[in-house]
Amino acid sequence: MADFISLPFYDLFHENGHVPEIRQKLPSLVAGVRRSILEIGAGTGLITISLAEWTPAEIFALEPSAGMRGVLLSRLGARPELLERVTVLPGDALSVDLDEPVEAMVMINVLYALEPEYRRQLWPVLASQLEPGGLLVFSWRDGGPPARRPLRELGSRQVGRHTYAIFSEILESGEEGAKARYLHRISEDGKVISEEELIGYAYRPPWNVIAQELAGAGFTQTEAPEGLLAWRRLP
Ligand SMILES: C[S@@+](CC[C@H](N)C(=O)[O-])C[C@H]1O[C@@H](n2cnc3c(N)ncnc32)[C@H](O)[C@@H]1O
Repeated sequence: MADFISLPFYDLFHENGHVPEIRQKLPSLVAGVRRSILEIGAGTGLITISLAEWTPAEIFALEPSAGMRGVLLSRLGARPELLERVTVLPGDALSVDLDEPVEAMVMINVLYALEPEYRRQLWPVLASQLEPGGLLVFSWRDGGPPARRPLRELGSRQVGRHTYAIFSEILESGEEGAKARYLHRISEDGKVISEEELIGYAYRPPWNVIAQELAGAGFTQTEAPEGLLAWRRLP
């Protein structure tokens, strides 16, 4: 399981990363959902809260990282009106075992973390937890993994006297995945206070691979805005 984001940095950078675009594109896809949504890899709840705002559905927010779940629960705690409708589930996507199938599943910025063999096993598991005709939405971009490149700064945020900066480097690039190195640096007046290094693989499966895997697991594609894929479980 790849995770390149140091938890203290997560919300600082992601509120201004993929989240605004997803919040713009996802509502039309889930607009008709009334009963239940499973969110896979809910992280700190940036999308979870939005799902609960856009739909009247009961939400199951699955997140394997205890640290991420802590922030998610804290975010939920600040929205008491949502507490009775959102259940936070520990565990990873392959181990999901719901009491009854859900109407929709949402998986945003998680695919990159799934090793190909894990991903291939996942689609049939998700199909088994989804109602016939149910919707599966996840973020995906074509173009394969990034090419090798040297370390560069991705962005920085000021928090009081400290600067939080993220750097990344692509060490190796293959057909479906790339080995990346991330540095999470906290500094004050140019002096480094702490630095955490994370190294791992990120996966960007090409379209033909995804299409074949999903069709093989009993899904059929339906329309979605660029950057998202939407599939329905065949009845
Ligand atoms: C980049 S974060 C995205 C979080 C959230 N979906 C968002 O868009 O803000 C990726 C999340 O996927 C989770 N994750 C990684 N591997 C997973 C797996 N096998 N099953 C479920 N979640 C996983 C990580 O713990 C992390 O919280």
